[in-house]
Amino acid sequence: MVEENHVETFEILGKKTIRVGYRIRSYICEEIIKNYASSTYVIITDSNIVAAGHLDAYKRTFTETLERLRPDARLLTYVVSPGESNKNRATKAAIEDFLLSNGCTRDTFIIAMGGGVIGDMIGYVAATFMRGVRVVQIPTTLLAMVDSSIGGKTAIDTPLGKNFIGAFWQPEYVMVDVAFLETLPVRQFINGMGEVIKTAAIWDAAEFDRLERHTKQFLKVINDRRADGTVDLTPILDHLFRLVTGSIRVKVDVVSRDEREGGLRNLLNFGHSIGHAYEAILTPQALHGECVSVGAIKEAELARYLGILSPVAVSRLASCFSAYGLPISVYDKIMVDRVNGKVCPIDTLLEKMAIDKKNVGSRKRCVILKRIGECYEPHATYVSDDDLRVMLASDVSVYPFKKEYKEFTVVPPGSKSISNRALILAALGEGRCKLKNLLHSDDTKFMLSAVTALKGAELDWEDDGETVVITGHGGKLEATSQELYLGNAGTASRFLTSLSCLVKASEGANSVVLTGNQRMQERPNGPLIEALRANGCDIKCLNREGSLPVRVLCEGGLKGGRIELAATVSSQYVSSVLMAAPYAQEPVTLALVGGKPVSQTYILMTIQMMEAFGVKVTMSTEEPYTYHIPKGRYKNPEEYIIESDASSATYPLGFAALTGTKCTVPNIGSTSLQGDSRFAVEVLRPMGCSVIQTATSTTVQGPPVGNLKPFAHIDMEPMTDAFLTASVVAAIAPGTSIITGIANQRVKECNRIAAMRVELAKFGVKATELEDGIEIHGIDYTKLRVPEGDGVYTYDDHRVAMSLSLLAGMCSGPVVVQGRRCTSKTWPGWWDTLHTTLGVHLVGHEAQQSDRSIVPAKNGNRSIILIGMRAAGKSTMAEVVSQQLGLKLVDLDAYFEEQVGESIKQFVQEKGWSEFRKKEATFAEKALNDFPEGYVISTGGGIVESEQSRTVLKRYAEQGGIVLHLHRDVAQMVQFLTEKDAVRPAYEESIQSVWERREPWYRECSNYLFYSPHSTTDAELRQLKQAMGTFVTRISGSTVPLPKGRTYFVCLTCPDLLEGGALEQLDDITAGCAAVELRVDLLKSQDPQFVENQIGLLRLNTDLPIIFTLRTVGQGGKFPSSDFRRIVELVELAFKLGVEYVDLELSLPEGMLDTLASKRRFTKIIGSHHDVSGQYKWDSPEWESKYQLAVNCGVDVVKFVGTATSMQDNVALENFRSQHTFRPLVAINMGRVGQLSRAINSLLTPVTHPLLPNSAAPGQLSVKQINETLTMIGESKPLKFFIVGKPITHSRSPALHTAGYKALGLPHTFNRFETSDAAEVRDQVLKNADFGGCAITIPLKIEMLKYATELSDSAKAIGAINTLWPVGDGKLAGTNTDWIGIKNSFVRNNVPSTISGNGLVIGAGGTSRAAVYALHRMGCNKIYMINRSDSELKKVKAQFPVSFNIVTLSTVEEIGSIDPITLAVSTVPGNVELEESLKEKIHEVLGEANSEERFLIDAAYKPLETAVLKLAKQLGWTTIPGREMLVNQGVAQFEVFLGLRPPYQPVFDAVVNE
Ligand SMILES: NC(=O)c1ccc[n+]([C@@H]2O[C@H](COP(=O)([O-])OP(=O)(O)OC[C@H]3O[C@@H](n4cnc5c(N)ncnc54)[C@H](O)[C@@H]3O)[C@@H](O)[C@H]2O)c1
Ligand SMILES: [Zn+2]
Repeated sequence: MVEENHVETFEILGKKTIRVGYRIRSYICEEIIKNYASSTYVIITDSNIVAAGHLDAYKRTFTETLERLRPDARLLTYVVSPGESNKNRATKAAIEDFLLSNGCTRDTFIIAMGGGVIGDMIGYVAATFMRGVRVVQIPTTLLAMVDSSIGGKTAIDTPLGKNFIGAFWQPEYVMVDVAFLETLPVRQFINGMGEVIKTAAIWDAAEFDRLERHTKQFLKVINDRRADGTVDLTPILDHLFRLVTGSIRVKVDVVSRDEREGGLRNLLNFGHSIGHAYEAILTPQALHGECVSVGAIKEAELARYLGILSPVAVSRLASCFSAYGLPISVYDKIMVDRVNGKVCPIDTLLEKMAIDKKNVGSRKRCVILKRIGECYEPHATYVSDDDLRVMLASDVSVYPFKKEYKEFTVVPPGSKSISNRALILAALGEGRCKLKNLLHSDDTKFMLSAVTALKGAELDWEDDGETVVITGHGGKLEATSQELYLGNAGTASRFLTSLSCLVKASEGANSVVLTGNQRMQERPNGPLIEALRANGCDIKCLNREGSLPVRVLCEGGLKGGRIELAATVSSQYVSSVLMAAPYAQEPVTLALVGGKPVSQTYILMTIQMMEAFGVKVTMSTEEPYTYHIPKGRYKNPEEYIIESDASSATYPLGFAALTGTKCTVPNIGSTSLQGDSRFAVEVLRPMGCSVIQTATSTTVQGPPVGNLKPFAHIDMEPMTDAFLTASVVAAIAPGTSIITGIANQRVKECNRIAAMRVELAKFGVKATELEDGIEIHGIDYTKLRVPEGDGVYTYDDHRVAMSLSLLAGMCSGPVVVQGRRCTSKTWPGWWDTLHTTLGVHLVGHEAQQSDRSIVPAKNGNRSIILIGMRAAGKSTMAEVVSQQLGLKLVDLDAYFEEQVGESIKQFVQEKGWSEFRKKEATFAEKALNDFPEGYVISTGGGIVESEQSRTVLKRYAEQGGIVLHLHRDVAQMVQFLTEKDAVRPAYEESIQSVWERREPWYRECSNYLFYSPHSTTDAELRQLKQAMGTFVTRISGSTVPLPKGRTYFVCLTCPDLLEGGALEQLDDITAGCAAVELRVDLLKSQDPQFVENQIGLLRLNTDLPIIFTLRTVGQGGKFPSSDFRRIVELVELAFKLGVEYVDLELSLPEGMLDTLASKRRFTKIIGSHHDVSGQYKWDSPEWESKYQLAVNCGVDVVKFVGTATSMQDNVALENFRSQHTFRPLVAINMGRVGQLSRAINSLLTPVTHPLLPNSAAPGQLSVKQINETLTMIGESKPLKFFIVGKPITHSRSPALHTAGYKALGLPHTFNRFETSDAAEVRDQVLKNADFGGCAITIPLKIEMLKYATELSDSAKAIGAINTLWPVGDGKLAGTNTDWIGIKNSFVRNNVPSTISGNGLVIGAGGTSRAAVYALHRMGCNKIYMINRSDSELKKVKAQFPVSFNIVTLSTVEEIGSIDPITLAVSTVPGNVELEESLKEKIHEVLGEANSEERFLIDAAYKPLETAVLKLAKQLGWTTIPGREMLVNQGVAQFEVFLGLRPPYQPVFDAVVNE
């Protein structure tokens, strides 16, 4: 037992500098001070270690020792923030500044006390400070003790990679005190074990063995914490001490042979090549040791794949890592939970691996294990990307099999049933027995440890664990006080129950307790227990009668004589009694009673194996199902080779059949009791294979490829599992093959019969399902189709996967087999065998759109479900969604009625509500199956009443579908429903109470929420529909891109948007802004309902992206900083409401931040941090680490707000900005002095507006103020804009643009340049040094085209430009904003931006083209055109693609047959009298266009009310006067020129008030 003050010394690089001990603080201090003179000792550590009390303790002891030995020297201490994110240049610099400012010189002695982060960073500080000072490492984490502190590698991280900057710097001492581990958090503890196990695996087989044997207590001890969080290590102290010294010994050994990165030292990187790649993606959520564990398993699998490492070694490694609490795959539940489903795309992993320091050039290397404790080469081995891809991928592409003759031998994994029996027999037997080809499973694992615990046998391993050597004690078993835990291992529980009855009392115990996990405790053992009790055994069921846990008393034991047992449920009861029976006091007669026993082959198998171990059972000649077992002892044979699993053997044999090669399975033959052993003879032989089966081996040689014959009919009842292999072989035997007797295959891992039918079809092979079989219509293999897209699906069923992999190789091109890992259930090494033994080319495949991706897939065409109370507007909104996204409508009620053939009312009257709900749920599910894509499904309000329907809805949402909850204020709904309600059966209870019950259900079942504020007028309803349109576009994945160039967002600080006129003035307030922020913390209530309402109102009144911000008190806001529950609730609500941005404070607990960020769906995250108190300067590590944190959490925008007290702070900020360009960054300083930074920041600068009650932060400016500042400081240059054309004297453009400049504080000017000569424009306008852009009007719109070096789509389609502006490098861009003027005029009048009706254009001049384009862009199906003359019409029509669907109307008759028209644009002059014939046509067409809602814009703006407008109004059209179009066109142009939207009202006023 290790004791206090115990110290061991290790030599590294020729010096005895490593000391490992327990509770050796005084020793450490004394050694340092005594042996190393210095004027200044500096302990550097992190704040967690301070919090754990270590720094204080060291300070005390160190000071005392100094006083004693070196009274003149001083001790300094420095504490840094913990965590990898602080292991950077900034922290290093801060430490150096500290040392310098404290006058530290060359003789400084540094003590680095902490984990690997401290050790690496402080080591590096020491390496470079004053060109290198002395350092001691005091590692405080397990990882640091066994790994990072040893070897002299030091480093820091940069944003581009970990440990990229560093040095080799050997410490004077590494002082390891295991006692530090008492305060180490559990996860860090486990993390360190990753390195420990890895180290043993490459170098020290004996230590690995030892680690394997000590798994039991480890997790229990380290998880058991005292109240202060510390742990009592006593029970595992020796083990810990040994594993620490064991690892150190290996590391020292390797490092001493190879100090700098050479070959040997790289071996320590086992697991790191792949592990690092995972870590690069999964950090900081996953820790280094966890990733190494995952990487080590992958690299070990690679070694197995290459045929170097044995499968047993891989499984030993995997069990060892997981026994110490480490994940062994990124799909392990602990890992998935921790990383929040972050994905690791293979290409990214390979990229990350490519920059590994071990590589030479771009070739990748991995450490390949040969066996546990030994590597394949004395350095890392080159590996190919193809092989790595197979390891990393969950899907695999199988390339065509080489069809050349070959012979091979395959030994599939051992049979499970035989392995289980052999173990029990050998353990009860006498003498040594080598068990070969044992299948390692839960059952065998638990049986082995139980047998050892009962001292029944000794275990040993040979051939690297390949062979289990059991030395049995001939049935002598001793009781133990320790409970025997069997997990969920069914066979073990049954076999061990009888075996327990043979146990003798020992000194410490007189009973055996068998227990299992929860599921095990429910599995039946009753008949067995009954039979044993009847034979004198004292068995107590501790919980539930007939199940585990049981206590078996060690008295009396099995008496023997007649035992009666009911064996109609499980043959395992029988085998259990049979195997124990020879040890009863009297010979046993076992009679199976109660009917025909099940699975008699397994009983036979037991009897046969007992005979191999020397006990012969005889069958009664008098009674049926009765056996006589003599007294005796098993004699262990020297060697027992466990037969391979016969079902598994069908795959390599099938391979031979398909490819015309020869395959031998050397350990299954005609004497085998496994049913599937008949496969070769009964299935493959009739198909044309030559089969040689001896008593113990089977060889199959296939006919030349393409010559397989179908079998007419085989009853596969005795070998049901082999039917899948038979099916794929039959698939390329042209003709019909029928398999029956396999009904049980419908209820295996999947419905295998159906699965084969579906998957074979993908190869072009038709199969028909029979009730208990399948009929296969084989084709010539050359006609096999290569399954498309993501290949064949394997249903998470090992047998489906293995059999399909065979057919895949017979195709002419590579075939993807999905989910390859499922084969691990019975044959983890199947792909290795396929690749290495059978020589098949495999490549890892990754599905294009991984469903595990955190970037959610766009909704695409997937159907959307609407739920909500009646009167929430489902049908109206369903229509909007349908129009906006081009989906068809299904009403679930109508669907119901159609399906049942009567009305819902009738149905309910006849069958009652509950029957209705039941049916409704079924139909909901059915509807989702019938309409998975392309539909909006609206549901009845009561759908959430049934549990079953709720499950259907929730599942749909979980699978990424949109379940949209439409919500309206309840009071309004009640009113509405009371007023009109006839369609559906009336409620029997008050609407209020129905609402109260259902509301939580709607919320629970939906993943999106749309709140409809009350709308009374038509205009309001249109506005609502528009908002809905925007909303569904965004939530279905058409996100707004991050804005480019100089952009602003305004912060709404009102307590309630309905008060103080904020909404009315919103257009002004948001002028110049790219987004609008709602400061939720400043609202008068943060009640979710209220917040939802406010967001709803905001959506209704602006189409700008919304930023949802809940600023906490600590960050300068109003929301309680630690009310995390509500923060989470509100942020999740924001996601549900589909807002475009959510501001997440980086000061939230890291886990929460991460979890929230992962739920964002299409919302962008702004990771913000505010230093309200002005504590941190911009060069402080605080900002650096927050930046890293933001980057690691995957935020879309980083927003940092500091405080400026002097101009210098603004300079420092700019410095920071220029060095942090990895993610979009918003960085500003608060305070008056900080205003400059607000002007300089260019992306999404937060702004206020004079119309708002107050600004959101001290020093906040308006867009206008910022622009003025930019002009003043010379950042913004006054530009000259022009209108060109003739005549332009009356043009309103100058007034419009100038008004915009004024409102936004811009320094530009807008002038007239009258000419009809394009060349003149070129020479005098375009070449002007301050040219900012020009508006173009008649007659130059077409002629100016030639000066544009690039044209927008609209300009190309319309064939004319009205806007031209410089884009740098002497280039000019041209566009046409007339169409936007038209579109926005409609939209401002609350027409949705996409409609599904038809359009009309009157006139055929220049503007008509813009009108056609606008109507097309707004979704018009047909665009009708009328004009005075037909020839012009034809020209316009000919100019546009056919897809525009232009229909010209020449005669009144033609007009008589038009479809309803929703949108019309008149482009004929307004101030001249129209020709009579045209007038008539207009009259006709406007009168005929009887769509319910219709809107007409007149492009002519003089007079205000033109003749066309007047007429349209009379005919019931909503009319929009031309000046709106004029203004909207100008606004659009302004935005094109400057990237800023001017306020509407001021520019409108400027245009109209001449
Ligand atoms: N130089 C090398 O050869 C080498 C080898 C492996 C790893 N590393 C580096 O090591 C670093 C990881 O080291 P780590 O895992 O020790 O992480 P770490 O230093 O971040 O420590 C883990 C956590 O445990 C806390 N902690 C440390 N000791 C404690 C104690 N005794 N009681 C309570 N809390 C304690 C720390 O404050 C920290 O929060 C990485 O940066 C890695 O690159 C270096
Ligand atoms: Zn490591």
